[in-house]
Amino acid sequence: MEYIKHLEKIIEEQLARVERIKNSHGFTDFTNLDKIVIGIIDGDGIGPIILKEAKRVLNELLKDEISSCKIELRAIDGLTLENRIAKNATVPEDVLNAIKECHVLLKGPTTTPSKAANLPNIESANVTLRRELDLFANVRPVCIPEKNIDWVFYRENTEGEYALGSKGIEINEEISMDFKVTTTGGTKRIAKAAFEYAKANGNKNVSIVTKANIMKKTDGKFLDLCYQVAKDYPNIHVDDWYVDIMAANLVNEQIRSNFNVFILPNLYGDIITDEAAQIQGGVGTAGSANVGAQYAMFEAIHGSAPRMVADDIAEYANPSSILKAAEMMLRHIGYTEKADKLLAALNLAQANKHMTGDASGETAAAFADYVLSALV
Ligand code: IPM
Ligand code: MG
Repeated sequence: MEYIKHLEKIIEEQLARVERIKNSHGFTDFTNLDKIVIGIIDGDGIGPIILKEAKRVLNELLKDEISSCKIELRAIDGLTLENRIAKNATVPEDVLNAIKECHVLLKGPTTTPSKAANLPNIESANVTLRRELDLFANVRPVCIPEKNIDWVFYRENTEGEYALGSKGIEINEEISMDFKVTTTGGTKRIAKAAFEYAKANGNKNVSIVTKANIMKKTDGKFLDLCYQVAKDYPNIHVDDWYVDIMAANLVNEQIRSNFNVFILPNLYGDIITDEAAQIQGGVGTAGSANVGAQYAMFEAIHGSAPRMVADDIAEYANPSSILKAAEMMLRHIGYTEKADKLLAALNLAQANKHMTGDASGETAAAFADYVLSALV
């Protein structure tokens, strides 16, 4: 029975991953580096258009550091849909090696080839990069001051349904099975990251989101371990919710501003953060950080918008999300003042530039021009 062997193999792989998590090192200290290399990946679809604007803004903000070689903006080519299809690889090896030579990455959206379009059925590049670079924390802030909303989502980024998403089993023509993975090390590190953030920001409330009533082994473990980690933070108020009611809570104006920090397993985090971004004004408005101990990758939370390209309106793509990601990246590498500057300019641009995603609104370039002029 082929699938029993397959099952043994994936269990062995996951046990090996558990050991790697145990042996992983402390966080990169950017203040100790002579030079920080920022890899820039344009991506597909609207990616090159919004990344072009992000590069203009970063070149301006970091001009002194770039000219004194303290920072390098390094183009990483080859993570295009065409090259990935040609090499039949989700992240071709030479591209992955080039990525590993950088400290942090700013990444545009990458298209996952669709099986339906008769393209190779390769894994999403995002999922591969998150796994290969062990980027375990997906941090997604959503902030709407006028509605008193200040949310930060800590989505586990390497486990859950995603760990073996491309390694399910077709038992026979009648049955297919996918798997969900929760590990102790993988859960504790995301919980710790969330609680540390809550503590550093005035002991914000922390809410754990699972479906532990149904997914008893995996979400049950996730929930128990989050409460175990919570014991180290006695001044933080913690509660837990099932993901279905949390989806409702976020649109419940009576209670939603009580929530601050969320800890979620991978798939629920994926879904809930799109909902939250939509409440903020659309998935084009939210930034996303993928943080590991060694590497970190910052990206827009939206996809490559192939429909905008097909309709020839790609130049009207909103670069807010990738600029928000750039802001998070600057903060991550210790450039807090520059991050604040970018955030202020970005808020002004969002208030003053009408982005509709089509010819009735502003172009990405006009939006970035405004951001550049507002950097003071
Ligand atoms: C996200 C995206 C990705 C995910 C896709 C592109 C694989 O939706 O970053 O939220 O599912 O994680
Ligand atoms: Mg998503």
